[in-house]
Amino acid sequence: MAPAGPVLCVVGARPNYMKMAPLLRAFKACRSMPPAVLIHTGQHYDFDLNDRLFIGLDLPAPDINLEVGSGSHAIQTAEVMKRVEPVIDQSKPSCVVVVGDVNSTLACSLVAAKKNIPVVHVEAGLRSFDRSMPEEINRVLTDQLANVLYTTERGAEANLVREGISKDRIQFVGNLMIDSLHAALPRAVPALELFGRVGIDAAWASAQPGYAAVTLHRPSNVDDPRTLADIVAIFGEVGQRMPVIWPVHPRTRANIEKFGLSRVLQQHRVVCLPPQGYLEMVSLMRSAALVLTDSGGVQEETTALGVPCLTMRTNTERPITVDQGTNTLVGIDRCLILAAVDDVIRGGGKRGRIPEYWDGGAAPRIASHMAQWLVTSSEASVH
Ligand code: UD1
Repeated sequence: MAPAGPVLCVVGARPNYMKMAPLLRAFKACRSMPPAVLIHTGQHYDFDLNDRLFIGLDLPAPDINLEVGSGSHAIQTAEVMKRVEPVIDQSKPSCVVVVGDVNSTLACSLVAAKKNIPVVHVEAGLRSFDRSMPEEINRVLTDQLANVLYTTERGAEANLVREGISKDRIQFVGNLMIDSLHAALPRAVPALELFGRVGIDAAWASAQPGYAAVTLHRPSNVDDPRTLADIVAIFGEVGQRMPVIWPVHPRTRANIEKFGLSRVLQQHRVVCLPPQGYLEMVSLMRSAALVLTDSGGVQEETTALGVPCLTMRTNTERPITVDQGTNTLVGIDRCLILAAVDDVIRGGGKRGRIPEYWDGGAAPRIASHMAQWLVTSSEASVH
């Protein structure tokens, strides 16, 4: 028997969109899947963090926008919970699909689980083992609430089993970020064209040894004035070795201004841009000599692109990018960072290989497993 209600798919913040876009396409292509309804919580709302990404990823406009906006973690999470509850009550979904580890992921999982609506978590089992990271708390709790857990790397299963989650709820399917990346690569403009559009001197950026692309938004890196000042100084030193191109997250930009670091940045060979669309970001990463980041998704994308990545954190929930990919954890250690930059200049930097199932086929794997699971679980609920 086919399941009755729709599949409610939740997005809230930038890194969710790359995961949901290929999944919605695969759901649509799978004839035995119920219709999908896309809910946007409104956690991210700026054009640069939001609408631009929807366009680049070919994500359909959300069916429902909860418009929660910014706030403390408690307020944001509570607001999503309050606003998603009537949506779940009215639509009586077969299940709620959440991706990643943002506040919206946890909030919607919690509401659904308490109403006995099955929760499907995509990108389950990643662990940094660092509870000072809000995303780690979201990951652990969402996984506890989920009925079906799709993983991106094999090591995630061991993390989940250690937390008491039974193996038969876990499916290793690969990485949706790479599905989006594969779909974007043919459409991403050459970096030279992008430089023209954003006013960067192409000769400067593309001269040997190439440029470093930067992304940075973690509270641990950008919320403390001393830490952010140290990081800006390190970027200045990297800039003496190669051009630095930095699309700046709104949170980071606000703090740069608040801490009086804008003038310091202007003295360096660091070009700051507004947050870029997905296709622009792919083109910037693909042609970079190296990437400096504290983002989770960028660690995966650079591994898939074969571009050396220096992650400005002391841990990662995506260890496969270090073990098999091009990623190196450097924290905000000036010596480590400059040594890694010099290594890129001398020899091209760390090489890696593509992890298992990071092949662009994660979304169809999830859709075909889910279609089967929905039928089985709706039959079980009838008997
Ligand atoms: C969130 C996610 C993080 C993800 C990141 C990607 C959580 C806990 N964090 O962090 O995992 O890597 O998104 O960007 O869910 N702001 C704007 N415009 C917006 C949204 C936010 O200016 O559209 C500013 C606001 O000042 C806000 C701050 O950025 O207070 C932080 O936004 P928030 O969504 O709380 O967290 P992010 O740092 O973006």
